[in-house]
Amino acid sequence: MKEERTWWKESVVYQIYPRSFQDSNGDGIGDLNGIRRRLDYLKDLGVDVIWLSPVYQSPNDDNGYDISDYQAIMEEFGTMEDFDALLSEIHQKGMKLVMDLVVNHTSDEHPWFQESRLGRENPYRDYYIWKEPVNGGPPNNWASRFRGPAWEYDDSTGMYYLHIYSKKQPDLNWENPKLRREIYDMMAWWGRKGIDGFRMDVISMLSKAPAYPDGECKDGNPYGDGQPYYTNGPRIHEFLKEMNREVLSKFDWMTVGEGVGVGTKEALEYAGFQSHELNMMFHFEHMELNPGPYGKWNNNPADLIQLKEVLSRWQTELEGRAWNSLFWENHDYPRAVSRFGNDSPQYRELSAKMLAVCLYMMKGTPYIYQGQELGMTNLHTDSLEDFRDIEIHNVYREMVGGGRLSHEEMMTYINHTGRDNARTPMQWDDSANGGFSDGDPWIKANPNYREINAAEQMERDTSVYAFYKKLLAMRRSSELIQYGTYRLLLPESPSLFLYEREWEGRHMLVACNFTAEEQKVTISGIWKYKGKLVLDNYGEIGQDWDREPEGPASLPGSLRPYEAAVWLEDQ
Ligand code: NOJ
Repeated sequence: MKEERTWWKESVVYQIYPRSFQDSNGDGIGDLNGIRRRLDYLKDLGVDVIWLSPVYQSPNDDNGYDISDYQAIMEEFGTMEDFDALLSEIHQKGMKLVMDLVVNHTSDEHPWFQESRLGRENPYRDYYIWKEPVNGGPPNNWASRFRGPAWEYDDSTGMYYLHIYSKKQPDLNWENPKLRREIYDMMAWWGRKGIDGFRMDVISMLSKAPAYPDGECKDGNPYGDGQPYYTNGPRIHEFLKEMNREVLSKFDWMTVGEGVGVGTKEALEYAGFQSHELNMMFHFEHMELNPGPYGKWNNNPADLIQLKEVLSRWQTELEGRAWNSLFWENHDYPRAVSRFGNDSPQYRELSAKMLAVCLYMMKGTPYIYQGQELGMTNLHTDSLEDFRDIEIHNVYREMVGGGRLSHEEMMTYINHTGRDNARTPMQWDDSANGGFSDGDPWIKANPNYREINAAEQMERDTSVYAFYKKLLAMRRSSELIQYGTYRLLLPESPSLFLYEREWEGRHMLVACNFTAEEQKVTISGIWKYKGKLVLDNYGEIGQDWDREPEGPASLPGSLRPYEAAVWLEDQ
């Protein structure tokens, strides 16, 4: 059956984390006018859609994911006039803008919460989740995702409120129809302004299991894991179908849901072509492989066999039924080249390009996180002071302060998986702070901006940037890449990621070496057709398909360290 073609299936999305993208007024904080200065850079790269992390008014306990006014712009980022100018310039350049929708929680400084905490009878009380104490303590044992308990006692009314993130991020009560109406009206207000969709923060968490049962204590956390009870809850699809009916269906929008706890089965419900909920989901299965005794805080290498299994399962199980999103990086995860590739000077560029080929030749909408297109790396520091993230500071206090891990151990883990690795300033050029700001940046720039920066890479046709540009252009002109089916080859290989795409009888082969050693490729009898090498990170485009002919198999005999190559069948 032919896939229905839509603009969001054929778009490339670029995520901007505004705080770290471009400062325009020297206060050390990125802002909207800074973004306006860089739109040509994005257009030139081949970006269709910009996803802007939150720019709304916020006290910044969690860098804007704690919103105190959904219809105002954070002062540090500029004004509503700046926003309007940004939106219109994005449109003039033929791009689109997707905003971040954070409606699982607000800031505790949002007027709704300020009212809500005033008294049990307040009309806004039911906008949030308030519970009576149980045995003199919290209603259950749930952990906050930022460590510590998920409940905060409020003296004035003698009840607890739920905050799955920080205590300055109280969870909204989606059971309340009045609250839902306010959210839909707010979304439509942005729609009338002309935005092109929403990325929906932790959207799988809106409906909670009404019994609020205790969770299991794991990964060394004294508090219980409530995730099974607050993700994919009993009313989530009812809420999203309602949201779709009331707002989403009225605009030509792209919608992508952040899917904490979402597997393929759930994704088919959230984003199934017949579901009337969202266009696609982000899943985190490939980001959460190989956890250690402290869960995400580990320095374990990625396991390629598992990685292939996960990414391939998402490709095949969603085929013809729902749409995938493809991402290696965002503001919550470390840099992909440091985690899945090799950020040593010898292999950084090769492996960054290899990762791009591996993921973006798959089926789905590509998401590129700022700086990924340059092969930006993790920070690698010994000093906690270089980090700003509430999650990093909380876990450090708990683990090192509590005597469970040494400073060195904890820093190794933070350097491997901490969120701030991706939040260091965008590296524009080799001037002070990588050209991000003339002032003192809110977070330290990665000192490697002197070697890794956009200005240098835009001038050099062998750069990671130039490679991304080529790859995106190739995607844009290929129905096979956009809509073809997917088949994994060599699932048991611990070092090679090989797969085939097929569209209307034409094939494409994608082959990636995830190691620093040359690897023999031995599959025979599969390739009966002739083809051309169309993309290769060693720069040999135009070569023949059969570099080392092996009878009818005609595959390359081997792949060099971190080599990535794409062959297209001749017709
Ligand atoms: C997911 C966001 O991506 C993350 O940055 C944030 O801390 C949480 N949701 C809470 O909003």
